[in-house]
Amino acid sequence: MTIPAMMRAAVITAPGGPEVFAIEQRAVPVPGPAEVLVRVRASAINRADILQRMGRYPAPAGVPADIPGLEFAGEVMACGADTRDWKPGDRVCGLVGGGAHAEYLVTDAQAVARVPDGLSWEVAGASPETYITAYDAMVLQAGLTAGETVLVHAVGSGVGLAAVQLATALGCTVYGTARGAPKLDAARGAGMRAGCQPGNEGWITDAVMDWTSGRGVNVVVDLVGGDYTAGSLGAMAAKGRLMLIGALAGSKATVDLRTILGKRLTIRGTVLRSRALDERVAVTTAFALQVLPLLASGRLIPRIDASFPLEEIGAAHARVESNATIGKVALSIA
Ligand SMILES: NC(=O)c1ccc[n+]([C@@H]2O[C@H](COP(=O)([O-])OP(=O)(O)OC[C@H]3O[C@@H](n4cnc5c(N)ncnc54)[C@H](OP(=O)(O)O)[C@@H]3O)[C@@H](O)[C@H]2O)c1
Repeated sequence: MTIPAMMRAAVITAPGGPEVFAIEQRAVPVPGPAEVLVRVRASAINRADILQRMGRYPAPAGVPADIPGLEFAGEVMACGADTRDWKPGDRVCGLVGGGAHAEYLVTDAQAVARVPDGLSWEVAGASPETYITAYDAMVLQAGLTAGETVLVHAVGSGVGLAAVQLATALGCTVYGTARGAPKLDAARGAGMRAGCQPGNEGWITDAVMDWTSGRGVNVVVDLVGGDYTAGSLGAMAAKGRLMLIGALAGSKATVDLRTILGKRLTIRGTVLRSRALDERVAVTTAFALQVLPLLASGRLIPRIDASFPLEEIGAAHARVESNATIGKVALSIA
């Protein structure tokens, strides 16, 4: 396989809006002994990319500071001397701390998963972040089991729909909230039993208690935070677990601590991007074993809201920031 010296990359030229992107030539990275070089075919936009572009979420150490992109699918082009599992031409996907919005990236050979035959580049490149986030939060951290109930906020989002599909596939009953009827419809299509839009004070607790005949939910997948948090606590069953994954509605909340005490609730925050390598390997392995087979069989079907070529990454960012998306905004890298 011929590896060029230079590649095209989407570069954040200055903190700002979607217009700050430029497609620039950068040197193709060289894999270290434990790494593989991947020719990226597909990726997707995540909210962290947008915060990074705005200058509000600097890239972690060890990844390009000005090339965003947290997930990828592509072909192995070269393998470091100490790697054993991969060979050039293998189709792989995974998570990185940044740098996926370019034609090539290097990543640890243990932190990639094999893309099943028949899975498109688009789906493989737009799945790792949402499904790993949802699986890790609900199953690996909150211990969700079959028969339990789950409440997902921003249920029409990329992570939200992945959570609905995974929890449904696990045998759980899923409820959700969103600010528009089309998102609730999409979530119902993905397996959600009931959902609602924001309403009067107490709307989250009231709706969930109505749906669950007063029992409350076992797990909350909270992508919204802010003033949703108090309602979520009121909507939880005894020993419920709230997984705080995002804070789209704000990072401050006023809650009644007696609710947490009385119901013996667990509130746990989680973040993927800054995790150490061993933790990234562990979640990627779980994704490969537990989620990719369901994607390959069609049991899980990620919803792609729109797809843009690398050259139109600014438009892809604007699409996500519109809050009108249902599911993922994919990026193709020809
Ligand atoms: N912790 C982690 O490791 C991790 C990993 C992935 C994502 N995340 C976070 O999870 C969140 C969702 O990510 P995503 O990729 O699924 O997002 P997404 O697909 O871009 O969807 C986000 C949706 O959230 C809703 N929303 C936005 N602002 C809101 C507000 N003020 N109040 C209520 N709803 C609001 C909007 O839908 P509605 O029309 O329904 O309001 C919007 O479409 C983001 O905050 C992201 O940073 C965290």
